[in-house]
Parts: sequence; C-alpha cells; structure tokens
Amino acid sequence: MLPAVSRMAFGALQRRAFSASARDLSKVAVLGAAGGIGQPLSLLLKLNPRVTELALYDIRGGPGVAADISHVNTKSKVTGYEATPSGLASAVKGADVILIPAGVPRKPGMTRDDLFNTNASIVRDLAKACAESAPEANLLIIANPVNSTVPICAEVYKARGVYNPKRLFGVTTLDVVRASRFVSEVKSTDPKDENITVVGGHSGVTIVPLFSQSKHPELSSNAEIINRVQFGGDEVVKAKDGAGSATLSMAMAGARMAESVLRAAQGEKGIVEPTFVDSPLYKDQGIDFFASKVELGPNGVEKILPVGEVNAAEEKLIEACLADLKKNIAKGVSFVESNPGK
Ligand code: 2OP
Repeated sequence: MLPAVSRMAFGALQRRAFSASARDLSKVAVLGAAGGIGQPLSLLLKLNPRVTELALYDIRGGPGVAADISHVNTKSKVTGYEATPSGLASAVKGADVILIPAGVPRKPGMTRDDLFNTNASIVRDLAKACAESAPEANLLIIANPVNSTVPICAEVYKARGVYNPKRLFGVTTLDVVRASRFVSEVKSTDPKDENITVVGGHSGVTIVPLFSQSKHPELSSNAEIINRVQFGGDEVVKAKDGAGSATLSMAMAGARMAESVLRAAQGEKGIVEPTFVDSPLYKDQGIDFFASKVELGPNGVEKILPVGEVNAAEEKLIEACLADLKKNIAKGVSFVESNPGK
C-alpha cells in the first residue's frame, strides 16, 4: 500500500496520463466520404496515425467505403454511417475534426460559383447537423464555392448560438500546394523548398499568390504563372472533360489541413497553414472572411497573420480579389437568410 501522499501523486500522474492519451484520441468525420474527394481523403486519413476514429458519411455509399478502408492495416477504427439524420448525427458526435467535401463538382466552362445553387443547401444542411451534434468540432470546408460555403456555415452556427469563428476553416491548402508545384516546374527546384504565400479566397481572381514574398520576387510580374495558380483548378476540370474537378490533389490538400489542425490540437506549436477564416484583416471594408496564413492552436485559430508587404502589382490583385470576395460572401449570407431550411 502506498503512503497517502504517494497515492495522491500517483493519482495525479494517472490523471495526467489519462488526459494526455484522451487528447491524443482523435475522431475525424468526413461528410461526403463516398465522393471523388471523399474517398481518397478518407484513405489518407486512415493512413494518418493521429486519427484514431474515422467516421464516414455520405448520402449513399458511406458504409461501403468504410468497409473497404477498414481493411487497411492501421490502428484506427472506421465506421460508415447510414444516410439518415441519426446516422449523420452519430457520425459527427464527438468529432475533433469534420471535413465537408460533399457536393457536386464543376464541369468544363463552369466557375466554382456556378455550383452555388446545388451545393449551398447541401452544405447548409450538413452544417446544421454539425452545429447541433458537434458544435465544438473544427469544421473544415472543402465543398465549393468555398468563398460562399464558409459564410453559409457561419450563419447556420450563428442561428443556433454556437458560432465559434476559431473553429471554422475554408480549405485553401490546394492553392499553396499548386503554387509551390508550379513554381518548382518553372525554376527546376524541389516543390518542398518553395514556400509561396497565397491569400484571398479559393476561386479565380480571389486566389492571390504573393511571389514578392517568396524566393522568386520576379515572378510577381509573371502573368502566366499568376494565372496558372488562380485558375489551376480549371486545368483539371478541362482534362477530366466532364468527369469532375480535382479530387486527388484536393484530397491530399484536405488531409494536410486536417493533419495540421490535429497536430495543433495535440499541443504542437508553430503550425501555420493558409486558410479561409473569419478574419479581421479586411473587415473595415465589409469583408468578413479572408484566407491568409493562420497559426493553429489547441482551440483552432490561434493567430491570423497579416498579409505583409506586397508590391504594386499584388496590391492590384488584392483589390480585384476583394471585390469578388465581397460578393461571394454576401451571397452565402443572404442564401441562409432567405433559405434557413428546416
Ligand atoms: C480545386 O481547386 C476542387 O476547388 C477545387 O480544384
């Protein structure tokens, strides 16, 4: 029998050990798991040792994808949920991170905004379930148009009194992934050594690469590469020729963002990712959401980093970005106002 003081110390140690391991248990839910992005995203999450429980939901095919992925020999438990309101609620309940890739993709000639009519209500209804069953989770939005679907989620959470701007993220990781890859092709370098800041939003001219802040400031006057970063998604839409938009690279980008959120949640410091968040940077111009580098922490957004110094050409790009972004955000907000759903 341990003396009383040692017993107390032992108890404290046990409690610490328990809370450390509880913190390291991470449930991640994917809503839209059977889709083009959802499947590879779910597979990448299954390969991530930080994910201990993977919840897969879709309007069809969730349990099938889950059964398939569950055979991958990593430790995490995979569950597929039925396409019912209670299936959805159980999928998100207790999740640390929820990713939403659900929705329809673009066809050639479409902009992301052309998806609004279909995807807005899909995201609204999924956000509603998350707000009701997992209001504390980090919500990572992949469904396009991200510039509008993120504000839609914010409105849905606000209406239920559970909005926490630190937990809502639009995934813009693919824009920096593309920027570093495209630059490496031009400069014959390793993309992992290319760190390109991309700010704004996730659509056309709202995507603003800031090459003046990179190792290649001269690229800030290279219209071709700027255009490629802004419209890189179109290359994939065109090449897929009616069969959708980027799924594999988008899944990689979503998995990277989820990994960063989990690392920060598990106490790692100094994790910085670009992401579209409720941001103070341009609120004085009526723009409530903006993508920039964000430091992540245990509570989600820890610090929103400033855009930093930009040159005159980039200043112009930001101006064009803000004009579009303002409309995209307003569209999301007014959609929920006029279509609050059930
Ligand atoms: C893209 O950037 C699908 O939005 C995605 O290609």
